[in-house]
Amino acid sequence: MGGGNRVRIRGASEQDIVSICRIMLSTDPYVTLGYTEDLCYDVVLSGLEEGWVGVAEYGGRVVGFIVFRVFDGFPLGGYIRAVAVDERFRGMGIGRALMSYAEERIFRYRRNVFLLVSSFNYGAIRFYRTLGYEPVGEIRDAIVDGLSEYIFRKRRGPNHA
Ligand SMILES: CC(C)(COP(=O)(O)OP(=O)(O)OC[C@H]1O[C@@H](n2cnc3c(N)ncnc32)[C@H](O)[C@@H]1OP(=O)(O)O)[C@@H](O)C(=O)NCCC(=O)NCCS
Repeated sequence: MGGGNRVRIRGASEQDIVSICRIMLSTDPYVTLGYTEDLCYDVVLSGLEEGWVGVAEYGGRVVGFIVFRVFDGFPLGGYIRAVAVDERFRGMGIGRALMSYAEERIFRYRRNVFLLVSSFNYGAIRFYRTLGYEPVGEIRDAIVDGLSEYIFRKRRGPNHA
């Protein structure tokens, strides 16, 4: 990942919505959870209003995004609302960089980061565990009957105190 192809994480703008929704609507868990373009636009627009959407650029194009909340959206901490990386650019550290972008901002103000991950999303569960998240609860039949959402939490560590 050298030279002009370095990954850059930056704050998103409305101009990024098309790229963000192209990524979101092409991948699980969002496909299985029944996300539509309208829902994606709502999620991204409300994130932009709060000022908490990041995108990853690689070679000048948007290849990943993260939507998060710092002050509302979940009790006791910040909340990662949605995160995804274009399939062709996974396994390169971009997801980790997006999570760091959100965590850095949330931990400035809050002691915890929370997120929900679908019970069928084994890859994301391993990804979050690698990043130090632990399961603290389960919401059964959360979005689709028969499927759970796990609540994962990461606490502010000594580096963030
Ligand atoms: C989950 C996701 C964002 C990870 O993005 P990524 O750019 O591939 O992840 P990274 O390359 O930054 O990986 C960071 C670490 O997590 C691990 N990891 C990432 N995906 C993994 C997987 N599917 N299985 C096991 N470990 C995984 C990596 O091995 C890496 O560990 P390391 O740094 O110790 O080597 C990406 O797979 C994705 O977009 N998935 C579809 C959308 C999704 O599930 N979003 C979460 C909704 S809750």
